[in-house]
Amino acid sequence: MKLLITGGAGFIGSHVVRRFVQNYPSYHIYNLDALTYAGNMENLKDIENNSNYSFIKGDITDEKFINALFSEHRFDGVIHLAAESHVDRSITDPLAFAKTNILGTMILLNAFKETWKGNWSDKLFYHVSTDEVYGSLGETGLFEETTPYDPNSPYSASKASSDHFVRAYGETYGLPYVISNCSNNYGQNQFPEKLIPLFINNILTDKPLPVYGDGKYTRDWLYVLDHAIAIDLVFHKGQTTETYNIGGFNEWQNIDLMKLLCDQMDLKLKRPVGTSQKLITYVKDRPGHDLRYAIDASKINKELGWKPSVTFEQGLSITIDWYLNNEEWLSNVTSGSYQNYYTKQYS
Ligand code: NAD
Ligand code: DAU
Repeated sequence: MKLLITGGAGFIGSHVVRRFVQNYPSYHIYNLDALTYAGNMENLKDIENNSNYSFIKGDITDEKFINALFSEHRFDGVIHLAAESHVDRSITDPLAFAKTNILGTMILLNAFKETWKGNWSDKLFYHVSTDEVYGSLGETGLFEETTPYDPNSPYSASKASSDHFVRAYGETYGLPYVISNCSNNYGQNQFPEKLIPLFINNILTDKPLPVYGDGKYTRDWLYVLDHAIAIDLVFHKGQTTETYNIGGFNEWQNIDLMKLLCDQMDLKLKRPVGTSQKLITYVKDRPGHDLRYAIDASKINKELGWKPSVTFEQGLSITIDWYLNNEEWLSNVTSGSYQNYYTKQYS
């Protein structure tokens, strides 16, 4: 099995790559990543010399390069995670999201189609997608696999579009695919532009904790290693042409999550509980901010036996410990261009 994993130097991708390299010694794992601001070779230091692992630096939007790569390696499977992934960045630079998330996905689909030309036995294209394609929920209800797509941000619209292209290649060319749509991930190695690592970093550096709007937006949080386990199951046991929703059964209003995070940080930093909460600052809302996401993950639970393995309190505690023990990782990724991003986004 020659397996291409795209975006493997990023947050979720690095955990997926590690899991496959360690658990499937008979596979060769090729990690293709452009190393954008979100990609980091440090994330995979521990497995970089494994004999069943190769890193390839490259851009999924470079059609000539991707076609040559597929001709050379004839990948049996693809797990596609490479993407522009941050909603706030999609609001300031929507075209970058269209290019990577839509065009990049199409270029990969096309190269896979041209490699196998209909000889699809034991081949699979797995597209890792998001629950944001379903839009926003009101105060009740859950996203099911049959919920109509209704994306609101340039990020979610680009992911919805890429999902549609994956399905279209399945319908039109018979390309075997599977899609999963997951809720908010958290855990070690997440770039500190996303809520939880951004707040951890700001608490450590005594900066304000920016709460968008009234803080009553709700997300369904899943520990990243549980997502990696789900991806492994869907890749090996999922039905082709099916979609699987993946979620944590774990809804939190932002402000409640922020207070829990602040209190856990105070305990770990051995200072009076309440110290970090004083940094909470209400700021201008995100335009088009989705009110609530919540996943009905009963299909993957019933069909593939998956459920989250840790509670939120456990996962959050492991995550905070990781950031506290990896201050060098954090300071490396928050120097340079991060400072420009931060100033532009939050000033
Ligand atoms: P991330 O931003 O941490 O990592 C993305 C990776 O893709 C980086 O390593 C980056 O270098 C690489 N990349 C970006 N553009 C590329 C290009 N043109 N060519 C090659 N590589 C490129 O993202 P993440 O949070 O790990 O998300 C991974 C995937 O999972 C994305 O497709 C995202 O939409 C999806 N997803 C994320 C979450 C979440 O909560 N983070 C939830 C559900 C789904
Ligand atoms: O639902 C899955 C999605 O979750 C993934 O597809 C995306 O790649 C991932 O980025 C994430 O999107 P969100 O926009 O939900 O995540 P983010 O961490 O940016 O924000 C979580 C919530 O916190 C959201 O309601 C916005 C709010 N927020 C975020 C930041 C960065 C703040 O209030 N302040 C902040 O500074």
